[in-house]
Amino acid sequence: MIQPRLASHLRQRLTQLLVPVCNDSESHAAQELKWLWKHANEEASKSKTKAMSTKRVKDGDNDNPSTLCKPSKSQRSDVALALLEDYIQQRVLHRKPLQYILGTQPFLNLEILTRPPTLIPRWETEEWTQYLASRLSSSLLLLRHDPGTTSTTTTTKVNKGDRYSIADLCTGSGCIALGLASMLPPNSTGVLGVDLDKRAVQLARDNLDFNRNLLDGQEDQPLQSNTVRFEQLDLFSESAKETLMHWSPSRVPSDPHSQGYNLIVSNPPYIDPEELATLEPEVRQWEDPKALIADDRGLAFYPHIAKMAASVLKTGRTRPNGVVVDQTDVPELVLEIGGDHQVEDVSRYVREAGFARIEVWRDLAVRARCIIASR
Ligand SMILES: C[S@@+](CC[C@H](N)C(=O)[O-])C[C@H]1O[C@@H](n2cnc3c(N)ncnc32)[C@H](O)[C@@H]1O
Repeated sequence: MIQPRLASHLRQRLTQLLVPVCNDSESHAAQELKWLWKHANEEASKSKTKAMSTKRVKDGDNDNPSTLCKPSKSQRSDVALALLEDYIQQRVLHRKPLQYILGTQPFLNLEILTRPPTLIPRWETEEWTQYLASRLSSSLLLLRHDPGTTSTTTTTKVNKGDRYSIADLCTGSGCIALGLASMLPPNSTGVLGVDLDKRAVQLARDNLDFNRNLLDGQEDQPLQSNTVRFEQLDLFSESAKETLMHWSPSRVPSDPHSQGYNLIVSNPPYIDPEELATLEPEVRQWEDPKALIADDRGLAFYPHIAKMAASVLKTGRTRPNGVVVDQTDVPELVLEIGGDHQVEDVSRYVREAGFARIEVWRDLAVRARCIIASR
């Protein structure tokens, strides 16, 4: 859809309104305005089309479907301008995050739906998910290499019990679970994502459907053949461990060795409650505090998840297809952290839970961002 240009005086005025909510950056504000205007036009086109087709059908003029959906250009731009004004009010007066207005956020090759108050996926999380997927892909391809063929990307049917099995704890929008499932080799992996919050679980399930539809028809698309499931679970409930074992994507009831997981990932809440007041209004007022803050200076989830991981990971060093490998290069636990100040404590919790190999992974801003561990 070609979108009309905003008159330059209007563009300048609206950009200036956005500057204070864009880190005082004029270029950032101009970019936000472009996205908001594009979104306003797309929504105007949808709502106008819907309103007109309803009216025509009501009026009994529904015998020529090709003429139903043609709002005039000026009708569409009136609606688009009214929508843009509303979006700018939401941004400036109510400090609504841009992604909650646009309704989506790109994440790897996916479009993640965003709805308040579920946490909006962050670039740091996207960055380590991509890193992890490429690190895992090579080991999964090696393990799934069929010596009878020259291809390492064989997509032969893999038994449920042989699938590489991942749990994403505190899944939120499902971005990590879906990102991994969409990047790991087709037909290799099963992912379970769990979250305490009902709205987050619903959003994660919507994201699975939305992205499957988006990627439909794309050849050899891993998200179509890797399994993903989202469930509601409080990690601190008494039965959490048993429930995770029961939901393991590789579990075959008749085979006790198929239970459990090859990898646990988590981006848990990690902000110190005392820091809450210092966060931007977009975060503090719109995102779920349960997704942000954790007791014990933001550390409360780590010892719990590390212990839980140690007890739900598959025993022995068995990989998919029953191959036994040295796991030096294959992570078993990946935890996002808030920065360098949490490295020492989180590494200690992870070591105490039985993980002997521990790495600190740094993001593009050179901040400690993940603890990567294996037993
Ligand atoms: C930092 S967000 C991470 C969301 C998503 N994984 C991401 O990276 O964008 C933390 C998530 O943990 C969930 N959560 C908080 N307490 C929990 C609990 N006791 N059990 C399970 N999930 C919990 C929140 O609902 C929230 O969705």
